[in-house]
Parts: sequence; C-alpha cells; structure tokens
Amino acid sequence: MGDLTNFIEGLPKAELHLHIEGTLEPELRFRLAERNKMDLPYGDVDDMRKSYVFHDLSSFLPVYYQAMAVLQTPQDFYDLAWAYLARASSENVRYAEIFFDPQAHTSRGVPFHHVISGLGAAVLDARGGLGIKAQLILCILRDRSAEYAMATLMESLPYRDSIVGIGLDSDERGNPPGKFSDVFQRARAEGYHLTMHCDVDQENTTEHIRQCLHDIKVERIDHGVNVLENEALVEEARARGLGFTVCPVSNGYVTGDLKTAELKEMLRRGLKATVNSDDPAYFAAYMTDNLKAAAESGALEAADLIQIARNAFEISWLGTGPKEALLAELERYATSAAVLPSA
Ligand code: HPA
Ligand code: ZN
Repeated sequence: MGDLTNFIEGLPKAELHLHIEGTLEPELRFRLAERNKMDLPYGDVDDMRKSYVFHDLSSFLPVYYQAMAVLQTPQDFYDLAWAYLARASSENVRYAEIFFDPQAHTSRGVPFHHVISGLGAAVLDARGGLGIKAQLILCILRDRSAEYAMATLMESLPYRDSIVGIGLDSDERGNPPGKFSDVFQRARAEGYHLTMHCDVDQENTTEHIRQCLHDIKVERIDHGVNVLENEALVEEARARGLGFTVCPVSNGYVTGDLKTAELKEMLRRGLKATVNSDDPAYFAAYMTDNLKAAAESGALEAADLIQIARNAFEISWLGTGPKEALLAELERYATSAAVLPSA
C-alpha cells in the first residue's frame, strides 16, 4: 500500500457521487453563519464536529440538513462549490459530477435561482481558474412527495443547460424508486440523464435496485453494492454497462463496513464500479483518501485502481470528445506509472 499512495495521488480521477452540501466544512459553516448574521450553538470547530453524531443514513440526514441552514445567497453556494472544486482539483480529480439538493433549500425559503446561479457560476469559473471540469446533478429528496419532486423538476427547466441529470437521495426507508416513476419519465423526456441512490443495506434493497433497472431504467445507481445479492440483477447490470458509484468511507460510517470486499467482487464480475466521497465534510475523506482506504482494506492493486478510474470516466455524462481525451490521459498515466519503480 505504501507504494500505491503516490500512484493514487497522481491518478487522473473522476468523481461522480458527491453531494455539494456534504462538503460544507465546519470552518466555512462558521464563516457563512457570520456573513448571514446567524447564531450557531457551537463554541468552535471541534465543538461543531462533536455534534456530528450518526450511525446510519437516517441519523446522518438530520445533521446534514441542519448544517446547510447557513447557505442563503448565491455567493454562499458559489463559495461552497468553489471550495470543493479547489480541493478536488488539488487531488487530480479531472472531472466531477456534483449532486445538489434544491428542495433542502427551497423548503426553507431560499429561491431555486440562488442555488443554481451560485453553483453554476463556480462550475464555470473552475474550468479556467482551477482546470477542473464539472457538471451538476439535481437530486430529488425521496422522503418528500412526488408532487414536490415534479414541481422541482419543472422549476429546473429554465436552467436546463446548467444541469446534466436528475438523481434521487435522502431517506430510502419506505421511499422506493417507483414513487417517482412519473417524475423520472418526464426528466428523461426533457433530456436529462438519470441516476438514483440505492443506499447500502436498506430495507427491500434488491427490489429497489430492480425498480431502478426495470421500471425507471436509470443509467447509474448510487451506492448499489447490494446488487450482488441477486444473480439476475448482476447479470443485467453487467450487460447494460450500468454504473455504480460506491463510497467506501461513507459506507464505513453508516454501516460499520467499507464494503471493499463487495467493491472488489463487483470489479471481478465486470460491473462498472467506481469510488467516490459522498459527503466528505462529514466522513472525513475526499477522493484520494477514499481510494487509499479502499486499496488498504480491500487489498486492491494498481490494476484495480486503474479499472476504477477507467470505469468512472466511461460511465460519466461527458460528451464523447472530452470523455475520450480523459480516458487517453488515464491510459498514458497507467502506461508511464507501470514503468516507474513506485507503481
Ligand atoms: N444517501 C442518501 N441521501 C444522501 C446521501 C446519501 O449517501 N448523502 C446526502 N444525502
Ligand atoms: Zn450519496
């Protein structure tokens, strides 16, 4: 693993499962609270971090939603996205697809326009300013109604050019993919790419994965490691080239297991599995640390890491030209690293 540290740091990476609100570090949360004249009930950063107590998805989500109350203005969203993009770029993330949760903001009175204009401007500026490409994925909150989801989709349409796809996140318990069939059908008709979370070890997980594949016909599943419990679904996902955005350190926090044995098995079975950071401000690991943790706990080799990076570029929603260019960059890296002693 010692050798693989440099290799992972230099690897050209794509990140496809990253909630921008989950990158709100305590320092920025304090700064935004001050700027927006809001009081926070914490003495300092350590005190704030100590309040981040959770052991599963359902106990994580209230912490995550409460923290984002400091996000109010377009500038706040810009600063949040810029901070993430700068960090990702410093880790040689060459391309990111970034989730945002507009309903977590519109439901507390922040206009959709504030959210998308701030995030969208940061994404545009980062291309020249930081050398990182990114696109935005609007996530529907599955524990809210299908009507609110449809209204949010409609609200997104004037900003269609700034949003590459639609996802589904928040609390999965009792909120199956099928609840949003109409919304996702409409999203497809509007030209959006589609993905949905099937969080790890959830109730009815294989039924939810089945609905994603058969009923909604998504292109990717976020997390989705429980697919391994059903042979027919594995075969179908493999044949379709379905993408899986696995998040090892996040899995460790919410299930007590990084699920790297599953990640390795997914790769062995020819599934397009990738490694991502999910909510790095809460799970204390951005892309590089997720890959290092996965490599260490799953005894991954350089060839596995190259396959993970290749999968990510392949299942990304980049156009053909930029995708081919990044894949070529990765292959050059793989070839040159293979002749270096440290690889
Ligand atoms: N799962 C569901 N909802 C979420 C997540 C997640 O991993 N992160 C932020 N919201
Ligand atoms: Zn997620």
